[in-house]
Amino acid sequence: MNLKGKSLLTLLDYKPEEIQYLINLAKRLKEEKIQGIHHRYLEGKNIVLLFQKDSTRTRCAFEVGSTDLGMQTTYLGPTGSQMGKKESVKDTARVLGKMYDAIEFRGYRQSDVEALAKYSGVPVYNGLTDEFHPTQILADFLTIQENFGYLKGIKFAYYGDARNNMGNSLMIGCAKMGMHFKAVAPKELWPTQELIDTCNLIAQTTGATLTFEEDPMKGAKDSDVIYTDVWVSMGEPKEVWAKRIAELYPYQITKKIMNQAYKTAIFMHCLPAFHSLDTEVGKQAALDFGKDYPSLANGELEVTDEVIESNQSVVFEEAGNRMHTIKAVILASLTDDF
Ligand code: CP
Ligand code: NVA
Repeated sequence: MNLKGKSLLTLLDYKPEEIQYLINLAKRLKEEKIQGIHHRYLEGKNIVLLFQKDSTRTRCAFEVGSTDLGMQTTYLGPTGSQMGKKESVKDTARVLGKMYDAIEFRGYRQSDVEALAKYSGVPVYNGLTDEFHPTQILADFLTIQENFGYLKGIKFAYYGDARNNMGNSLMIGCAKMGMHFKAVAPKELWPTQELIDTCNLIAQTTGATLTFEEDPMKGAKDSDVIYTDVWVSMGEPKEVWAKRIAELYPYQITKKIMNQAYKTAIFMHCLPAFHSLDTEVGKQAALDFGKDYPSLANGELEVTDEVIESNQSVVFEEAGNRMHTIKAVILASLTDDF
C-alpha cells in the first residue's frame, strides 16, 4: 500500500483497504510504543499544526505522535499567525509548503483545509472542521477492532447531532467499512440527504447499511456500539443550547438505553464529554436548564456519569488511540516503505 503524498481531508477520499491499512499500521505502532521500540522514521522532517479551535486530544496526539516519529513540530494557535487575518489561506499554504513536510489544520471551513492541500504541495491532515473529523474515526475504528476483532458487520448506533462533523464522518466510515450505521436523533438532526445518498452508494459496494431512527429506545436495540458526541459543537452560537437540549434530552445515553443494546456493547464518545459539574459548560447548563431537565442539574448532558464510568465505556482507550492512528496517517503519507 503506498499512500505517500496523500492528504487526509475526509474519509470519502479513502478506499476501504486504505482505511484498514492505516488502522493496522496504527496497531503495529501502538505495539512498538508499548514495547518501548523507537520508531523515528521521520527524523529531519517538520510538521506545522494550525489550530483555529481549541483541542486537547488532537493537538497532543499530533505533537507526541510526530515527536515519536522523530519530527520537529510547530504549533500555531487561533492567534499569532497571519492566516485569515492579514494573509489568505492560499498564500499561507504556499508559504508553509516551502518550510514543512506536512500540515495539520483544525478550523471551521472544510474549504480551508482543502485549499491548504491544494496549494501547499505537502500532505495536509484534517484535525476537525465543521463538516468532518476523519482522524477521530480512525481511532474509533481501531478501538472497535481491538474490542470485537473486526469492523465489517458491526452494528453501530450514533446518538445526538448526526449532522455535525462526527455524525457525518462516522456515517462515511461505517459505509466504507461495511458496518451497520444507525443515526438515532430527531429528523432535523439527521445528516443531509446529499451525504446520505453518497454513503448509500458506497454502502452498496461494501455490504454496509444506513438507517435513521427517531425513537431513542428502539435505536439502541441489538447494537454493538453506542456512540455519542456533544450536543453543541465548537463554533456554534450560544443560543443553540436551549433548542438542542430540548431536542436531544431524550437521546441522553443512560443505563436504560445501554440495556437495550447487546450485553457485550461498548460505549464510545470522541470526548470532551459533559457528565459532571466539573466544567464551565456543565455548571452553566445546570444553572440555565437544571430546573427543567433534572439530570442537567448534575452537569450530565449527552451521557450520564454512570454510563461513561461503567465497564462498558472505552472512551479513554479511544482517546489514547488518537495518537497511534495519527502517527499511522503521518507515516504513511511521508514514506513509501510502510
Ligand atoms: N476528540 C477530539 O478531537 O478532542 P479535542 O477537541 O480535545 O482535540
Ligand atoms: N462535534 C464536536 C467534536 C469535538 C471533538 C465539535 O466539533 O465540537
